[in-house]
Amino acid sequence: MAGGFDPIAEYKARTGKSAEWFARAREHLPGGVTGNVKFYPPYPVFAKRASGAHLWDLDGNDYIDYMLCFGPLILGHGHPRVVEAVRKQLERDGTTIFGPPHELETVMAERLNRIFPCAERVRFTNSGLEATLHALRVCRGFKRKNRIAKFEGHYHGCYDEALVSLTPSEETAGPYAAPQPVACSLGTSEYTLQSVQVLPFNDAEDTVRLLRAHKDDLAAVIMEPVQRGFIESNPEFLKAVRETTEELDIILVFDEVMSAFRMDRLGGAQTMYGITPDVMCLGKIVGGGFPAGAFLGREDIMDVVNPATRPKDNRVFHGGTFNGHPSVLAAGMATIDVLEEPDTYPRLAAKTSRLRNGLNDMFRRQGFEALAVGPGSTFNVVFARECARSYRDCMHFDANLRKEFDYGLLARGIHLHPDKPLYTCTELTDDDIDTTLSVAEEVLTKMRAAR
Ligand SMILES: Cc1ncc(COP(=O)(O)O)c(C=O)c1O
Repeated sequence: MAGGFDPIAEYKARTGKSAEWFARAREHLPGGVTGNVKFYPPYPVFAKRASGAHLWDLDGNDYIDYMLCFGPLILGHGHPRVVEAVRKQLERDGTTIFGPPHELETVMAERLNRIFPCAERVRFTNSGLEATLHALRVCRGFKRKNRIAKFEGHYHGCYDEALVSLTPSEETAGPYAAPQPVACSLGTSEYTLQSVQVLPFNDAEDTVRLLRAHKDDLAAVIMEPVQRGFIESNPEFLKAVRETTEELDIILVFDEVMSAFRMDRLGGAQTMYGITPDVMCLGKIVGGGFPAGAFLGREDIMDVVNPATRPKDNRVFHGGTFNGHPSVLAAGMATIDVLEEPDTYPRLAAKTSRLRNGLNDMFRRQGFEALAVGPGSTFNVVFARECARSYRDCMHFDANLRKEFDYGLLARGIHLHPDKPLYTCTELTDDDIDTTLSVAEEVLTKMRAAR
């Protein structure tokens, strides 16, 4: 770290118990964690409890939480309406889960079909990963074609085809106009690489050209309408993707696991952009803080899973023991109840803007080429002159400055995951925002002084 300012040492000095538990955890869990994304060096904060916008670690440090479990906790930790809904559901049901269908599945499906323009039929899953995996299989089954297209740098969960070209190096990725499929996990087969067409995000001309060239074997195009929660689609680009997929009869899938409830209004990125895909995927917030996901879309496409009308040799298999779990749906319903109240989105937008604008003013004042960017209640901090328009631009952000900033914040009671976007919640107070801004000011001042 730059001369005299060592935020990692500061972080270590106040997180001794996390270090102890990390040492114990790594004896049993590879890397001490139960998902690669949860690790950051030297070891992550180990959580003890949380409430509203705050989280406490094992050492008793109080953090303002902007990780919020990578996004789902839009109402903060343990929101009373969510907790109460789950408690009541468990009491009313007399069980944790039934097995046969129950009313809440239909009630939630009716609600989601009302909220999202593309949705006519719904199937529930237990995660965002499962939602995109099943959605893509549905597309392949419906179109009877085996290849799918995805955009470089877009994340759809951690399974084989979704990981293709997630984080390729510049050397392996090929020219941006014709990106190469790159395996981003060991264990990816050659067949998987061949079954994925990689596309350049926010590059309409080359995307359209590649779609035309591969139209005969593509079942679907899947995309994050807002890449990693902070890089927006250029509206002209998105329009071109929609028009071309429609013309070529390729299914357009919006992965709205991240964006569905985190734009500035209800209805997801498809409502914000006024572009309706054929199929969409949900996760995170739809489970109100419990494991959940769903894929939704046009009736004719979704019907390919229909066991009531289709013989088993002419349908797509979709299953899952815990799909549509009643307590999970109750938590999701309670969350959407709060989100549907007229002042929720405007209030959340006002809080997030104050924080984002405060950071941007500060970066300018302190002379850093840095930006807090992203729509709705998610944003990323990038140390660069301009926001990225694609994954390739992100490769040129200043990772060292971001690292100093992140650990400086972590060591002063601001919880985030290093190098990941930040999420806000309805329970964030004006005092929390003031505290965050003054901590950021202190960290940037130290970073500047140490240069
Ligand atoms: C856009 C997007 N799709 C899919 C997923 C996978 O969701 P899950 O982690 O619930 O499997 C994520 C997770 O971060 C995501 O951001």
